[in-house]
Amino acid sequence: MTFKTSTAEGPVNFFNVYDLEKMAQSVIPKGAFGYIASGAGDTFTLYENIRAFNHKLIVPQVLRNVENPETNTEIYGDKISSPIIMAPVAAHKLANVQGEVASAKGVGEFNTIYTISSYSTTDLPEVTKALNGAPEWFQFYFSKDDGINRNIMDRVKEQGIKAIVLTADATVGGNRETDARNGYVFPVGMPIVEEYLPQGAGQTMDFVYKSAKQKLSPRDVEFIAEYSGLPVYVKGPQCKEDVDIALSAGASGIWVTNHGGRQLDGGPAAFDSLQEVAEAVDKRVPIVFDSGVRRGQHVFKALASGADLVAIGRPVIYGLALGGSVGVRQVFEKLNDELKMVMQLAGTQTIEDVKNFKLRHNPYDAPLPPEAAPLKLY
Ligand code: FNR
Ligand code: LAC
Repeated sequence: MTFKTSTAEGPVNFFNVYDLEKMAQSVIPKGAFGYIASGAGDTFTLYENIRAFNHKLIVPQVLRNVENPETNTEIYGDKISSPIIMAPVAAHKLANVQGEVASAKGVGEFNTIYTISSYSTTDLPEVTKALNGAPEWFQFYFSKDDGINRNIMDRVKEQGIKAIVLTADATVGGNRETDARNGYVFPVGMPIVEEYLPQGAGQTMDFVYKSAKQKLSPRDVEFIAEYSGLPVYVKGPQCKEDVDIALSAGASGIWVTNHGGRQLDGGPAAFDSLQEVAEAVDKRVPIVFDSGVRRGQHVFKALASGADLVAIGRPVIYGLALGGSVGVRQVFEKLNDELKMVMQLAGTQTIEDVKNFKLRHNPYDAPLPPEAAPLKLY
């Protein structure tokens, strides 16, 4: 099965991050694009993720003596240029023949955190090399076999990876009807997990998910923390109860997400869950937020609502498809430039100022921005 996709490498002309999805549809093959862009079920949660940011408002503040807002921040001793980081996304070779090597190069040049997926289509050493010293985190789809899990963690530690992200919200696939309609199967393999998924290529997402461990429990968090000695983020808690379970098991961070609306459709927007999680965490550990971030104002609102870092998924993959490593870097630059503009108008000089900013509740319903209108995917 020869899979052909974009070979782009170079600057991309776009006005905002929403443009990229529309533009990428013409360069990524249909099945792969549907897999990337779609959500689960009715896609209620997919679009709620974007709508929900306007449930809270940023009241501009004036005469606050602000100029050239600074977006640099720090996490576990790693100084990064922005709180915007790379979410783990499977199979970058769906979007560009260069795959994770190009996305890592672009993220490394922007100098922020890169989270490599277990389902990366490029093995760990090549990705680490392309990052050229930028901080790398590893997202773990856990094997049923702890011996395999130890082997994977040994390889992760050899790379100097700084944290492990245990994905807990995908013990089975969400209802990916677009993939079913398109007859989509993975056209490429996943070298990191081939010990428990020898034939990733040619498999459906459901098969891939079922090859990983379904019965995740707090014991798995403890095991990863003990064996790896690395900080462990649990990716998926959206309520106080799950925060308590994760922190009691020794999690060093919480990643609030609904997997970009790809898992349990009919759930809340991740931004609406962030409020409850931030109260439950009560600044005990760092919080990463993702799902639906398309604007600098979305980043600002997530930081002002308790997140320490804000991750992006699909936009990076679209930038990869359209411009390779240059396109990836441009996506981060665009969002970060929008964030700086919002910070200036909100009277906030630093990221700490943003974290202390008080948003105003919006009592009225927020429509989906026209720029985010759904595309035809099958
Ligand atoms: C993902 N996501 C994901 N998450 C994870 O923990 N491991 C993974 O391998 C993947 N793979 C993946 C593939 C694709 C195509 C997408 C779109 C997403 C979820 C990802 O980490 C993140 O939660 C969402 O992508 C965030 O939403 P946005 O920014 O894509 O709207
Ligand atoms: C997905 C898996 C790979 O969302 O996390 O497709």
